[in-house]
Amino acid sequence: MTNMSKYVIQGGKTLKGTISVSGAKNMATKLMVACLLSDQVMTLKNVPEIEDVNRLLEVLSDLGVKINKLHDNTYQLDPKHFNPKNLNMELVSKFRASILLLGPLLAQYQEIKFPHPGGCTIGKRPIDMFIEGFKKMGVTVSIDDKYYIFRSNGLQGAKIVFPQITVTGTETLLLAAVKAKGITHLINVAQEPEVIALAEYLNKNGAKIRGVGTSVLEIEGVNNLQNSEVEIIPDRIEAGSFLALACASNSNLKITNCNPDHLQVPLTLLEQMGVKMKIGLNEIEILASKDLQALNIKTHEYPGFPTDMQAPFTVLMTQAFGQSLIHETIFEGRLFYTDFLNRMGANIIMCDPQRVLLTGPTKLKGKKLESPDLRAGIAMVIAGLIAEGTTEIENIYQIERGYEGLIDKLKAVGANIIKKND
Ligand code: EPZ
Repeated sequence: MTNMSKYVIQGGKTLKGTISVSGAKNMATKLMVACLLSDQVMTLKNVPEIEDVNRLLEVLSDLGVKINKLHDNTYQLDPKHFNPKNLNMELVSKFRASILLLGPLLAQYQEIKFPHPGGCTIGKRPIDMFIEGFKKMGVTVSIDDKYYIFRSNGLQGAKIVFPQITVTGTETLLLAAVKAKGITHLINVAQEPEVIALAEYLNKNGAKIRGVGTSVLEIEGVNNLQNSEVEIIPDRIEAGSFLALACASNSNLKITNCNPDHLQVPLTLLEQMGVKMKIGLNEIEILASKDLQALNIKTHEYPGFPTDMQAPFTVLMTQAFGQSLIHETIFEGRLFYTDFLNRMGANIIMCDPQRVLLTGPTKLKGKKLESPDLRAGIAMVIAGLIAEGTTEIENIYQIERGYEGLIDKLKAVGANIIKKND
C-alpha cells in the first residue's frame, strides 16, 4: 500500500509550543478485533485517525461489523452480523495486524481459512508461535502456498509457553483463550501497556484472566462476553517520537496527553544524556538543552527501551557528543534505514545487521528520501526537521499508518513541513 504524496520539509528551525499525543495505535487495533468476541456494541474513544485503523475498519466492515463514527476519534462497532466467511483475503494478507483476527475467529468457529501474513521491511515476522499455541489448544493446521486452514472441535484450554516474548502472539492467544473450554496458561507473555489494557477490557466485560501485568496469565474460559465503552490510552511511541524530536531540534516543547509512567526507560536515558525536562502527571516539558551526551541504546521488551522508538532516538544520537552503540534486539531488519542518515551526513557504521556504532554530533543536510516503514519514516521526518535545507520524503503512507494529523501537529509548533500530492 503506497500513495504518491510526499512531505517537503525546510529544516533547521527550533520548535516551540505544545504538541498533543493521540490514542495508541497498538491498543486501538487490538480492541477493534476484540469486539468480535461479543454480539454487543463496543464504543471506542480516543481512536487515532490513522491508516492502520482505517484498514482494520475496512476488514471489519467486510466481516459484517456495522461501524458508526459518532464524531472524530469515537467509533461504535456493532458485531451482531459478523460473518467469518466474508474475510477479505487480499486486504488481510497485506496488513500484518490482521493476524489478531485468528483469536476471535478460532475461539468461535471450527474452520477458518486465513492467508499468509505479508512480509515486512523490519524483519521476517514469522507466525510460528501463534501456530504452536493454537495446536496446543486442539487446532489442526494445514498449509498450502496461499492459505492456512485451521480446524478444531472447539478450543481447549492448554499450557502455552512462548519461547520468545511476542506482543501480537500474546494478544491473539489471549483473545482465543477467553472463550476456550477450561483453563489456559500463557507463560512468558508480553507486558506492554497495550496488552494490559486489552486484558483489563476483557476482564471488565466478563473474561476471567488472572495475572494481568505479570509474565504468566491464567485464563478461565467463559461462554459469553459483553462489549462496553473503552478509552484508548495515549500512544507512548508517538510521545517518544516527539521527545526525540524536541531534544534533537534543541526546542522547548511540551508534550501533552501522554502517560510518563509508560516512558520510564526512554525518559531515564534522556536524563542521562543531559536533557532538562519537567515531568507532570500527563505531560512532559522538554527544555532546550545543549551539549547532550551520547549513550548506548539496547531495545528490549516492555518496560525496556521499545524497538519502535529506536529509529527516532538514533536520529537524536546524531546530535549528541560521543559514541553510541545502538543494539536492536527485537527485529533483525530494523537498522537498515541508518543508511539514509549517513547520506544526510551522519557518521554511522554498521557492525552487523542488529548493531550500529554512531559518532556525533554531526550536522545533517536535507535529502530526497523514501520511507521504508513507519518508524524509519518518522525518523526521516525528525532528521529532515533538524537538517539544513530541504528534505523530501516519499511513500508517506508508511508514516500515516501510525501518526495522526502529523503535519498539523508539527506546523502548530513552528515546523516548516507540507504535504504535496503529486
Ligand atoms: C508488535 O509487533 C507491534 N505491532 C510492533 O509495532 C512492535 O514493533 C512489536 O510488537 C514489538 O514491540 C503491533 O502491535 C500491531 P512481536 P509484533 O511478535 O507483535 C518474533 C510499530 O512500528 N516472532 O512482539 O508482530 C518476531 O519476528 C510496530 O508500531 C517469532 O519469531 O511483534 C520478533 O523478532 C511494528 N515468531 C519478535 O518475535 C512469532 O510467531 C517480537 O515480535 C511471532 C514473533
